[in-house]
Amino acid sequence: MVFFDRFGRPVTNLRISVTENCNLNCFYCHREGQQGGHREMTPKEIERIVKIGSRLGIKKVKLTGGEPTIRRDIVKIVKRIRPYVIDLSLTTNGTAMYKLAEKLKEAGLDRVNISLDTLDRDKYKKITGFDVLPQVLRGIEKSVKLFSPVKLNMVVMRDLNHEEIWDMIKYAAETGTILQLIEIEAPRELEETEFFKRYFYPLKPLEEELEKRAVKIRERRMHRRKKYFIPQKHGIAEVEVVRAMHNTIFCANCTRLRLTSDGHLKTCLLRRDDLIDILTPLRNGASDGELIDLFKKAVRIREPYWR
Ligand code: 5AD
Repeated sequence: MVFFDRFGRPVTNLRISVTENCNLNCFYCHREGQQGGHREMTPKEIERIVKIGSRLGIKKVKLTGGEPTIRRDIVKIVKRIRPYVIDLSLTTNGTAMYKLAEKLKEAGLDRVNISLDTLDRDKYKKITGFDVLPQVLRGIEKSVKLFSPVKLNMVVMRDLNHEEIWDMIKYAAETGTILQLIEIEAPRELEETEFFKRYFYPLKPLEEELEKRAVKIRERRMHRRKKYFIPQKHGIAEVEVVRAMHNTIFCANCTRLRLTSDGHLKTCLLRRDDLIDILTPLRNGASDGELIDLFKKAVRIREPYWR
């Protein structure tokens, strides 16, 4: 069974933040649209919510944060969710992957996305606040041996790393990773801030260039984004471009629901008025039926942010 919202969009993905804490401090971070809320869900509570979701058509789960790997029980969380979904992935800054990748693989994790905005050590420190690039690169090398695919998330920022895009494409070909180039995302009310105006780097022109250079192009169902196969010296780089801002096609093809680290269902990263507390009822002994109703309510209030 799959659940559709009022706009005909099937809801098949759940993005779960397992903690709002992070060991890095990227200045542009949207914090998955979360604000405040300090309690965290136990592995067992996360399992219950995923189980309910799976009965309503959730087939894919992505774990995120904050930084999910700073939870000491992250392997346990993966183990508990594994039986309920077809695709289980993790978005991480990669700082712990050199030591965690194997355990996560054994626990049943399918894929990882690793944030990597630059290959320049000084820039990395400037962006994230920490001088840990070598450790992250080790984590990527380790991950590539165990997971397929490994995706790299590069948030492209004007004058900060936009000139590194082609170096990153080369690095993706060399490491056998998929590069996701991501435009900075912010809710409407932040679009006029100095931060956004200073760093927003539109990726449409780049997409046109990729279109020309690609030996093959494939369209992905999620968000209808394209994947470009770009020939490089060391093989073919796979590149995706994520342009969410003012993108009605992106929203029209969104299949995702979110779960905040403090246990609220959330319908959209950019919305502020869409939180449904599911953890409190769960802790107070709600039945499966009552939790299913909360899921249904979340699906009902979904609406495209850009339309
Ligand atoms: N805009 C776009 N992407 C962002 N990310 C974090 N903040 C932003 C933002 N403002 C990305 C990170 C990470 C993923 C979870 O979201 O780079 O890879």
